[in-house]
Amino acid sequence: MSVNTIVDPVTTTAWKALDAHSQALDANLRTWFEQDPQRASKLSFTAADLHVDLSKNLITDETLDLLMKLAGEVNLEDRRAAMFAGEHINVTEDRAVLHTALRRPADAQPPLIVDGQNVDEDVHEVLAKVYDFADRVRSGEWTGITGQQIETVVNIGIGGSDLGPVMVYEALKPYAQPGLTARFISNIDPTDAAETVADLDPETTLFIVASKTFGTLETLTNARVCREWLLTNLREAGALEGKDEKDAVAAHFVAVSTALDKVADFGIDPENAFGFWNWVGGRYSVDSAIGTPLAIVLGPDVFEQFLAGFHAMDEHFRTAPLAENVPALMGLLNIWNVNFLGAETHAVLPYDQYLHRFPAYLQQLTMESNGKSVRADGTPVTTETGEVFWGEPGTNGQHAFYQLIHQGTRLIPADFIAFANPVHPTKDGEQDVHELFLANFFAQTKALAFGKTADEVRAEGTAEEIVPARVFSGDRPTTSIMASQLTPSVLGQLIALYEHITFVQGVVWGIDSFDQWGVELGKQLALQLAPAVSGDREVLAQQDSSTQGLIEFYLNNRK
Ligand code: F6P
Repeated sequence: MSVNTIVDPVTTTAWKALDAHSQALDANLRTWFEQDPQRASKLSFTAADLHVDLSKNLITDETLDLLMKLAGEVNLEDRRAAMFAGEHINVTEDRAVLHTALRRPADAQPPLIVDGQNVDEDVHEVLAKVYDFADRVRSGEWTGITGQQIETVVNIGIGGSDLGPVMVYEALKPYAQPGLTARFISNIDPTDAAETVADLDPETTLFIVASKTFGTLETLTNARVCREWLLTNLREAGALEGKDEKDAVAAHFVAVSTALDKVADFGIDPENAFGFWNWVGGRYSVDSAIGTPLAIVLGPDVFEQFLAGFHAMDEHFRTAPLAENVPALMGLLNIWNVNFLGAETHAVLPYDQYLHRFPAYLQQLTMESNGKSVRADGTPVTTETGEVFWGEPGTNGQHAFYQLIHQGTRLIPADFIAFANPVHPTKDGEQDVHELFLANFFAQTKALAFGKTADEVRAEGTAEEIVPARVFSGDRPTTSIMASQLTPSVLGQLIALYEHITFVQGVVWGIDSFDQWGVELGKQLALQLAPAVSGDREVLAQQDSSTQGLIEFYLNNRK
């Protein structure tokens, strides 16, 4: 992508029209639904296996019409084509953005050639290596140093090298091979590693060090801590007698990285390292070799179905007309909510306990991508950008923060996600518990959309002075996403859906959604401050007074 193709959105005719339209809009979902019995069917869409109902958003035909015009004026379709073709749309790092290539079928035609390289061949060569390794661990052919079969896979990584694998593992736990589990260490807080390995048997534990750069402080520190734990415990158990420690590390540590040279320096056999490419952003990497713990524990077949789900959503996004294109519609709807209706946050509320880490995963995907104040051409943004994404599974959230969504002063668009079929069908007497769960899902979006008037509250016999507190204004926008079941494919579809929503928003704002310079300063300062925290007075004296005071507090209170 050339930065020349970036259009300042606020200068477009559509933006100005949307501005006027938003000011004139008298949103009233009750009236809109009464006046148009077709509203729900007109505003419900299918993308792969997902049914998506946008009708409870504060939009009219005119809103959608203008959002389509905006998409045209900011060249959304050209930018989409540039991404899929492998143009260097990550301009600040001069890189292609090709996570969509990670899930192309091996026989996709024509093959994807980028920068002179057959990307399809590269991707499938690594996948075959990952699957072969996964099969060897699953079958017991790969063993630890004492010949014992692996029972626990511990992924050591952070950010995109952690959040995707942990979220997917939690979501697809029912597909795990019996006797094989995964655990995850990410935080440099030593508690994380200590608690995670505390009850593990080193002889049956395999560590995967996952780091795109293989230079991340947290991950390399945790990897060394775990290597020490492994060797100490094996030594104490007498398991290393007559054996070389290097062989123990080689049997219990593998790596996933784009920097395979650094992997060897750690003592991991490059044969047991799985690569990916700099055109895969960390937060877009769960479908690359970063998914190795998933391929092991869930199995290559499940991983293949997961990738096929991504690809189905990619194809929808790539080919569906914008007016029926769910990622495009949802991305543009987010623009409407943020830039014209003033939303500052966006809730994602999965009604499925297995998706309990999905909101945390989406936080990195969306906020590391679109938390930018500078456009891709280096000029300041001209409007608000990335909203805060957050959420918790229903129904827990209903008893915590939903009060604010229902009756607070802020507009909080929310995505509700649910599945028709439960993994654990359960009866409470005659009552199907999943149906009760779904009744809550349906009830919440209904309450948020249509509210409860003062007259309705009065009709329940409520004392007049309590009436205002019990009124629900309604007109609180929600999107409902449903699928038959949370399968590996459907999970891939959901992830790809949000990847493309994030892309669409970035295109409108004219930002580079694929760099993350905002995380660098803190990393640099942590390294600079480390000597002061260890008591180096000279480094401490160079700090600002607040930082000095805080470090002094630590130094005076450490035991
Ligand atoms: O937080 C910054 C970041 O670079 C993320 O984008 C990335 O996912 C994470 O750190 C981990 O990086 P790596 O995989 O290189 O260890």
